[in-house]
Amino acid sequence: MTYSGKHYDFEDKRRGYRQLALDLQGLLAGESDLIANAANTAALLFDALPAINWAGFYFLRGEELVVGPFQGKPACVRIALGRGVCGTAALQRTTIVVPDVREFPGHIACDGASRSEIVVPLLGERLLGVLDLDSPRPGRFDDEDARGLARLAALFLAASRTNEPCGSLPRADPPRTP
Ligand code: SME
Repeated sequence: MTYSGKHYDFEDKRRGYRQLALDLQGLLAGESDLIANAANTAALLFDALPAINWAGFYFLRGEELVVGPFQGKPACVRIALGRGVCGTAALQRTTIVVPDVREFPGHIACDGASRSEIVVPLLGERLLGVLDLDSPRPGRFDDEDARGLARLAALFLAASRTNEPCGSLPRADPPRTP
């Protein structure tokens, strides 16, 4: 697979997200591994979307969110449900657009450069986690981003196995018998 890089027209956001949805479908086609798909989705979004400094996933583990594949600066690992923008979006199962992170009570600052943020819940039969994007530009995200990213999140969920445990092997290979 060769990824050809940016060719999106985000002057027209609707058009840009349409192009991105087609590319995401192509990127995930034939692969259902959750972590692999999350990693490639985060990489595609980070590369394709203008004015982004963090793009990635938090997955629900019990009562908290745990960071998953992402692109950007290292991030806080665990976020309790109801905390920060991510925990609030997860608890309310709704997309949250934050035009100015300094105005959001309890915002968790992972990268001091972030000025605005959008968090989209990953909702299948159950809440799987959230998709989180940060921008250094105030007011970077609007309803068109919310719609476009919800569509991308739905494509990611549809392509990925969401309920399969990790495999396991014994610590050492059993001795070979001649
Ligand atoms: N700002 C988020 C925390 C995650 S980072 O942005 C990667 C929040 O308040 O939930």
